[in-house]
Amino acid sequence: MVHLLLQRQWIGPVRLALTLLGLPHNFVTSGIRPALSCSSYCPLKTSQTITPISSSCCNLYMTSVKTMPSPAASFVKSRCSQYPGSKIKRFSVPDDKVDWSKSWPQYSPPSYTDPAVLKKPVWADPEIGSFSPQFNTVDGGVDRTSFEGKYKVESGKPINPRGRTGLTGRGLLGRWGPNHAADPIVTRWKIDAKGAKILHSVSKRPILQFVSIKRKDCGEWAIPGGMVDPGEQVSLTLQREFSEEALNSLSVPPTEKAKIHERISKLFTSAGFQVYKGYVDDPRNTDNAWMETVAVNFHDDSGNSVSELPLQAGDDAGQVKWVDVDSSFALYASHSHFLELVSKERKAHW
Ligand code: BGC
Repeated sequence: MVHLLLQRQWIGPVRLALTLLGLPHNFVTSGIRPALSCSSYCPLKTSQTITPISSSCCNLYMTSVKTMPSPAASFVKSRCSQYPGSKIKRFSVPDDKVDWSKSWPQYSPPSYTDPAVLKKPVWADPEIGSFSPQFNTVDGGVDRTSFEGKYKVESGKPINPRGRTGLTGRGLLGRWGPNHAADPIVTRWKIDAKGAKILHSVSKRPILQFVSIKRKDCGEWAIPGGMVDPGEQVSLTLQREFSEEALNSLSVPPTEKAKIHERISKLFTSAGFQVYKGYVDDPRNTDNAWMETVAVNFHDDSGNSVSELPLQAGDDAGQVKWVDVDSSFALYASHSHFLELVSKERKAHW
């Protein structure tokens, strides 16, 4: 316990210093991850460089698009040794071999596509051969463009623009190439009985709280995001996923559903802060399929819109709750980084 408290006090400064130096800092929270993790066995660093996301990408929301904090943060979980939900081990890719431009004739990654994906559910593409989608474009409603720019296609298969992951095929992902998600980060201030903002004892900054769900697939806490359906506007995905996972809108009667919609649509149609748009360092990524997301912060400043709604886990979420935004709280994929950006933007404790 003492160890954890001490760790919490130096996490922030150490992370900040490493971030400024462009060095990896994922090790900082590794000791306090939940036992069942989608991100275990991760290499600790990478030399892969991040290209800033083009500001020409359609800006759906008000403010700036941020990049990942350091090169290392973007390609660590994508190389996790044990592929989630399987017994498959990735071909080990050292930092200096991530970049496709580095010749590596010995590279022979296993191929894996989860049986659930091969069953051809509506959300998944068929195998290449019987199917040849139009990559780098919106193809029959499915957005196959990447926020990273134009990606390569070799032997009919798209190539992960960030580099080698140690696995070919699609793993658990349905789409060849980019798989688009949207992440609604709903926040409020933590207040005391009199309604005053509570300041953190160490940073002396007000504490933000956000709606977090516990994912059923791996047990990690996460933002209640989800996949963008074919032809769906990201703004709609953000609201739909939040309603389904944090308010259980899929299981309530239509009258209740209409009430939920009315209550949250004001917040979701307000100008959110676009926190991030781009590639996600997700443990499900492969050489031929990867996650990209748009993360948007909707803040209930007065605490009287979504703050008062009864949270109820639904769909892919096993649990849901308001969680204090703090650097020590381990989260799925790149979600912790998104919250760091939100707390900086709102001058809140991190
Ligand atoms: C999740 C999002 C996440 C994305 C990338 C999706 O499955 O629902 O919350 O950002 O994957 O990791």
